[in-house]
Amino acid sequence: MIDLFKNAARRGLFLFDPETAHGMSIAALKSGLVPACRVPADPRLRQTVAGLDFANPLGMAAGFDKNAEVPEALLKIGFGFTEIGTVTPKPQSGNPRPRIFRLVEDEGVINRLGFNNEGHDAAFARLAPLKGNGIIGVNIGANKDSDDRIDDYVKGIRRFYSVARYFTANISSPNTPGLRDLQARESLAALLSAVLAARDEEAAKSGKRIPVFLKIAPDLTEEGMDDIAAEALSHALDGLIVSNTTLARDGLKDQRQAKEAGGLSGKPLFEKSTAVVAKIRKRVGPAMPIIGVGGISSAETALEKIKAGADLVQLYSCMVYEGPGLANTIVRGLSTLLDREKVSSIRELRDTRTDYWAARNV
Ligand SMILES: Cc1cc2nc3c(=O)[nH]c(=O)nc-3n(C[C@H](O)[C@H](O)[C@H](O)COP(=O)(O)O)c2cc1C
Repeated sequence: MIDLFKNAARRGLFLFDPETAHGMSIAALKSGLVPACRVPADPRLRQTVAGLDFANPLGMAAGFDKNAEVPEALLKIGFGFTEIGTVTPKPQSGNPRPRIFRLVEDEGVINRLGFNNEGHDAAFARLAPLKGNGIIGVNIGANKDSDDRIDDYVKGIRRFYSVARYFTANISSPNTPGLRDLQARESLAALLSAVLAARDEEAAKSGKRIPVFLKIAPDLTEEGMDDIAAEALSHALDGLIVSNTTLARDGLKDQRQAKEAGGLSGKPLFEKSTAVVAKIRKRVGPAMPIIGVGGISSAETALEKIKAGADLVQLYSCMVYEGPGLANTIVRGLSTLLDREKVSSIRELRDTRTDYWAARNV
């Protein structure tokens, strides 16, 4: 059923511009037109990461469900967790359209949305009534016209503290001018101090400690990675999400679309983002959780991220090409791969190819 959906829906959706097609996917998920497809529980895929119990390691990445319209529907089609946002305190419309481009031959996507979203209050209103069974993370950012960007992140922590199972501070979108500057060492130290202090205050009030992850770009120098790892460790951050979209355009077939400004994701991002997972793993050591994201299109690529050093993984762009059955296919495929690898937990495979990926110059 879901495969039928894949072919028909892909052919149909590709008649529309990518943003309209995306709106139609959200509407289909909301209406229940996409059949629920729970994956049989496989205890080998279960893991506790940052104190949270994940039924499987595959999550929906931020940006698909910016306004928290379909988190439960995404959990029903096989994802082990999902991340809403990026949300900013005030609603904002983002950049002018068109601002999402398909690179069909490359199975890539370029976007320059610029944090279009309905703002904190709208997303909170949708999350508040949910029962809280599945793991729904909240990805927070800053308004484009904010005069205190760090305070926008602090506002995100406070606004969503009662509904988020984890937070992601997204400082790596290339589409908000100057945002990636927050990755520079001094700014990052100030951001992490403020965000984690807000979290600690909320934890003391509520009696529950919500983990905070930091989402970074793949376009970092070796020194930039040293700085991020050092700050993450010294602030006792709960984990890193590696990575956001890239500004690079290497090796693309679709040269016409490649000229569009914005962040590139999907298959062309796989190698680069996987190498950054490994390089960061080497720097932070074995204890810090890493969520690997970028170009995952199959169970094999999901497992390769884990072998490079990720505890959990996320995807977005390849679902545009493969349809909503992809989560289910990957999670079932992971079980088959574990049969072949003869391990009793997916965790045993983490870091088995970190050296290989860390040495890659991509
Ligand atoms: C259309 C689009 C919108 C995105 N919006 C966000 C966002 O709002 N916040 C964020 O942290 N990442 C956003 N991302 C980045 C994804 O979460 C992910 O890090 C990146 O696309 C790499 O994964 P993928 O190759 O599986 O898509 C967006 C990606 C795409 C394609």
